[in-house]
Amino acid sequence: MAIVNIDDRSFEVADGTRLVLALEDNGVDILHLCGGNAKCTSCRVTFTEGEPFSLNDDEMAILQAKELIGQVRLSCQILTSHTMSLSAGITVKGSKYDSAGPRPADGIPPSN
Ligand code: FES
Repeated sequence: MAIVNIDDRSFEVADGTRLVLALEDNGVDILHLCGGNAKCTSCRVTFTEGEPFSLNDDEMAILQAKELIGQVRLSCQILTSHTMSLSAGITVKGSKYDSAGPRPADGIPPSN
């Protein structure tokens, strides 16, 4: 099991759960406007503990394009493991959108 700490909450999820879904399914209204396809960066999170070392090619490409390397990670491109402490970058409530976007698939799609 993985432990996710966010703001003043903590919850357990199965190892290998897509982080964006772990957040959403535990009541965090994080945006995922592109449906988890590493195209929008709206699912961004900031880690304080447990940040995965590696980025996949799609996450690297969009973070480089948006000049966000080293600042945020994409919760749609990360699978849960161990203990992760983080904050959500953009929530539905804190945005101009009235919904989070299409629900991402359970698994991370292969890089294009
Ligand atoms: S980059 Fe769009 S949902 Fe993650």
